[in-house]
Amino acid sequence: MPIHPLNALLSRHLADWQTQPLNLLAPPPDLALDAIQHPQLSCVTTDWRSHCQAQHLGLNSSFFPDALPADLAGINLLFWPKAHQEGFWWLKKMCGFPHATGLIVGENRGGIKAAIKQLSRLDVALEKIDAARHCVLVEIKISESLAGVLAQEGRTQVFTGPDGLQLHALPGTFSQKGMDAGSELLIDALRQAYQPAKTRINTLDLGCGCGLLGAWLMRHWPNRFELTGSDVSGLALASAQQTFAHNQLEGVFLASDIFDQLDHLKGQLDLLISNPPFHTGQATDYDLAQRLILQAPQYLKKDGECWIVANRFLPYAQWLDQAFGHFTKVLETGKFTVYRAQR
Ligand SMILES: C[S@@+](CC[C@H](N)C(=O)[O-])C[C@H]1O[C@@H](n2cnc3c(N)ncnc32)[C@H](O)[C@@H]1O
Repeated sequence: MPIHPLNALLSRHLADWQTQPLNLLAPPPDLALDAIQHPQLSCVTTDWRSHCQAQHLGLNSSFFPDALPADLAGINLLFWPKAHQEGFWWLKKMCGFPHATGLIVGENRGGIKAAIKQLSRLDVALEKIDAARHCVLVEIKISESLAGVLAQEGRTQVFTGPDGLQLHALPGTFSQKGMDAGSELLIDALRQAYQPAKTRINTLDLGCGCGLLGAWLMRHWPNRFELTGSDVSGLALASAQQTFAHNQLEGVFLASDIFDQLDHLKGQLDLLISNPPFHTGQATDYDLAQRLILQAPQYLKKDGECWIVANRFLPYAQWLDQAFGHFTKVLETGKFTVYRAQR
C-alpha cells in the first residue's frame, strides 16, 4: 500500500515532538496510526473507524459524542476535515486547551489551503511549518480569544424538514446545508407506497446523519416504530440525538461501520431504511453500499423490507438482485431511484 501523504509529511517532524504528549484530533480513517511512532500518543475523533483503529493499537482514544478529555496538554495536531465548518468546530474545542501547542495539517485536495485563507481573513495567527506531498502543516496560536473570533463558525444548523420536523445538524454532518434531494425522494416514496402493517415496527436507519429518515417515519406514523439509528460519524449521532430530543421522539443511536456493531439486530428488523453513504473522504466508495445491501437480508425478519435511495449512476440494482433475488423501483427522477426489496 502506498504511504499516506499525511503520514509521509508527519514522519519529517515526529523526532521533534517526542518530549511532549501528541494528541491527534480528527485523524482520517485511512491514516496509518501505527506509523506514528510516539511514546505518548492519543486520539480524539468523531469517526468510529479511527477510534477502533486507535483502540486496536492500545492508544488512549476518545470518541465524540462520548465525553471528550477535560484537558489535552502537549501538542494538539488537528487533521483539517473536508467540511470546513467541522474544522472550525474542532478549533473551538482546541480553544478549551489554551496551553497546548496547536498544529493543523491537511491535504491540498482536502481544502487545507482554502482553510488557511479563511483563517487568515479572520486574523487568526498561523505560521507555516512545512509543505510536502501536496500537504501543509501550520502552527496556530491557541488562545482564549480565538474562541471569540470563531464564534460564528462551526455552529449547529437547525432547519425545518418534512411534516414540520425540526432538524439539527452539527458541522460536518451530511445535511448541514439542508435536506438532501435523495432523502426527500425516499420520504416521498415511503409516504406514497409504504404501509406500516404492524404496531411495533423494528426499524434501522443506517447512516442516519441528522436523524431525518427515522424521525420522519416516527412523526408521520406515530407510535408504530422502534427505531435504531446508526452512523460512523459521532457528529451525525449527536445531531440525530438532538433532532430526536427536540421533536420529542425516542430512538437508540449507535456508532457502527455499516453493520459491524449491529450483530444484536440480526434477524430482528422489519424495516431497514437508508440513503447509503458512497464517499470515504474524497473518493467514491462503492464498497460501503455494497456491504450494506449484500448483508441486509441477514438483519431482516422474514418479509422484512429494505428501502434505499441512490443516485441513478450507482450500481445498486445488481447488488439488490444478488442479495434479495428481486426488487422494485418505487420512485425515480432524473437523478435518483428509490428501491424496495423484501426478504
Ligand atoms: C447520504 S448520508 C444520509 C444521511 C441521512 N440518512 C439523511 O438522509 O440525511 C450517508 C450517511 O452515512 C454515514 N456513513 C458514512 N460512512 C459510513 C459507514 N461506513 N457506516 C455507517 N455510516 C456511514 C455518513 O456519516 C452519513 O451520515
